[in-house]
Amino acid sequence: MDQQTKNEVFDQAKAWILEAGERIKANIDAPRSIETKSNPNDLVTEMDQQTEQFFAGNIKNAYPEHYLLGEEGFGDELEDLGGTVWIVDPIDGTMNFVHQKRNFAISIGIYVDGVGEIGFIYNVMEGTLYTAKRGEGAWKNDVQLPQLSKDRPLKQSILALNTTWLIPENPFIEHKGVEELVKTLRSTRSYGSAALELAFVAEGLLDGYLTMTLMPWDYAAGSILVREVGGIVTRADKEELDLLNKTTVLACRSNIHEEIINDYVHLKK
Ligand code: IPD
Ligand code: CA
Ligand code: CA
Ligand code: CA
Repeated sequence: MDQQTKNEVFDQAKAWILEAGERIKANIDAPRSIETKSNPNDLVTEMDQQTEQFFAGNIKNAYPEHYLLGEEGFGDELEDLGGTVWIVDPIDGTMNFVHQKRNFAISIGIYVDGVGEIGFIYNVMEGTLYTAKRGEGAWKNDVQLPQLSKDRPLKQSILALNTTWLIPENPFIEHKGVEELVKTLRSTRSYGSAALELAFVAEGLLDGYLTMTLMPWDYAAGSILVREVGGIVTRADKEELDLLNKTTVLACRSNIHEEIINDYVHLKK
């Protein structure tokens, strides 16, 4: 994608995100139709679906040669990431959307041949738009985000973690390692929106985010943001992320990445 196209796509995507955000805000107190998907706590509302449909329609109209990978099924069935692919989570943090009416985000990562070029995370109710262009840095609204510290040790770090990973029976990670990690850290947080947690890592509010079960739309934008400020984003076994399947994710400041993986993350096979 040449620079001019990249700038045009960025401006267009930004306008659509702000418009979609306005619609969500205007309907925040409307009666909700809430359904469940894979389990009773996996929620979806008409607003998740309508918002993804809004992006799907606009993208197909303006860029018929682009593809869409979206959570709610209005996109394309993709077997690879060739070409330009918009990876869209219309509402990340649906449980927060339903229960709290805040702390959710629209997340869009735009990839060209598998490389993340443009990222957006819009904290809708707060009106904060995080953006990034590969090689050009990351922004919170109009303010460029500084590079992340490489000095702060793990014992002074705050990591976003889900308490689920401390349950011995969880199928993903040995809980003892997570327990040791929690004891070592300064503290933990859990916001319930992967996209916002990644945006907070990029902003330096969190030192890292470790999770076991993300889908591509949960981190497609956030990984671009975190990398633009010098952070590292990989699977929790240090391997590269696989943008077509469910994955573990560790996103953090560069000086604590190896230590977390080597000393505390013992994945179950
Ligand atoms: C979820 C949120 C949550 C994470 C889940 C995701 P959704 O996305 O990002 O924080 O723990 O794994 O599925 O379903 O609200 O878009
Ligand atoms: Ca969901
Ligand atoms: Ca999500
Ligand atoms: Ca979602």
